[in-house]
Amino acid sequence: MARETWATRLGFILAAVGSAVGLGNIWRFPFLTGEAGGAAFLVVYLLFVAVIGLPVLLVELVIGRRSNRNPIGAFEALEAPNWKFAGVVGAVAGFIILSYYSVVGGWVIQYLIASLTGAYAANPGEYFLSTASGLNAVAFHALFMGLVATVVALGIRDGLERAAKVMVPSIVFLLVVLAGYGSTLSGAGAAYSYYLSPDVGTIVANATSLIPDAAGQAFFTLSLGMGVMVTYASYLGEDRNLFRDAGTIVVIDTLVAFLAGLVVFPFLFTQGVEPGSGGAGAVFISLATAFAELPAGGVVGAVFFFMLGIAALTSAFSILEVVVSYVVDTYGVARKPATVAIAGIIFLVGIPTALDLTYLDTYDLLANNILLILGGLLLSLFVGWRYAGEAIEELRKGSGDATLSVAWIWIVRLLVPAVLLYTLYLGIEGYAEFLVETYIA
Ligand code: PHE
Repeated sequence: MARETWATRLGFILAAVGSAVGLGNIWRFPFLTGEAGGAAFLVVYLLFVAVIGLPVLLVELVIGRRSNRNPIGAFEALEAPNWKFAGVVGAVAGFIILSYYSVVGGWVIQYLIASLTGAYAANPGEYFLSTASGLNAVAFHALFMGLVATVVALGIRDGLERAAKVMVPSIVFLLVVLAGYGSTLSGAGAAYSYYLSPDVGTIVANATSLIPDAAGQAFFTLSLGMGVMVTYASYLGEDRNLFRDAGTIVVIDTLVAFLAGLVVFPFLFTQGVEPGSGGAGAVFISLATAFAELPAGGVVGAVFFFMLGIAALTSAFSILEVVVSYVVDTYGVARKPATVAIAGIIFLVGIPTALDLTYLDTYDLLANNILLILGGLLLSLFVGWRYAGEAIEELRKGSGDATLSVAWIWIVRLLVPAVLLYTLYLGIEGYAEFLVETYIA
């Protein structure tokens, strides 16, 4: 059977943006920004998006379009089978990320319902704990995975592309509405100055934690390092300017993250909630606190969690698609049974994180601060040192500029590996400390 392709340029862009825009932008980004002290984090993050994120996105797009294959099969198609393990790192990261991403997606569905019933109003902190782990968390994790599998089973055009065309514009529209509403709140002024005026002293003082966090976030938010963009580009025709596509994806993803900050911080500041207190649950607890106290906060909360839910879905589709495309390409299994089987396995892998929050951090840190960075490093080394000539040729189809292409390959050869190696080192060190503190000490 012939391999499917995207029906339109817009369809591909929207699906890729849908992958990029997700919990990373709306949940992870504000809480990392809060933990790291506001605008200082924003600056370092933007720097990483531009000098590392954009070049690595191009690396993935080039490999995908050149090979027309999933990220593991790609290396065979490009006659470099020794590099297959780079794709395997990505696929493993995909299993881990989707397994807990879906658990958090399940929280979002529970919060959507609770906004309407008022279930979190009395005690948001307690509500979070009862939502986040237990059999209800497992059940909503199953529901979320079921929704993801349903769309992915329908295929590229009828599933991913059609869903993205409706869902991605809705996310942006709802965020703009919420940011507009947020600007009318009394805490908006304080929120904006916290969020928008960086303090150079904070950046310098916190550099060793800002760098891995900002680099990890830049990767995570652009869906890099695990072959999502390889896979999406593998369904692409040759007549497209990849520079332009990559630029569009990066700009929209960054604007959405920025916009999410303009939504989240005014709510928090208005209720006097301190941003950045307390990790993954923080955004859920503090936002619920804010929604509980606003007039008509239940409706505002429902709109917010609805928007967050669709953003999470379009990202989850892309993670499942990586693994499905591998199984379909390699074993010739039909898409539907492959999707159901893989979604089932990922559901099982996620169960521990739905029962105990500690595992969620264990999965999240391993996948983001280590596996994604390692995956991105390997893909960049491959393109920079083993495949440079062909990569430039591929990039220039669809009229990529010659000078830019050469600048890009040198960034991919030297700057990207240097920064990613350092980041990986800090990531491994941090993870080792985390494991000791959590499981041994
Ligand atoms: N980019 C997604 C987000 O920001 C998460 C993601 C990571 C999706 C890796 C695919 C691959 O939420």
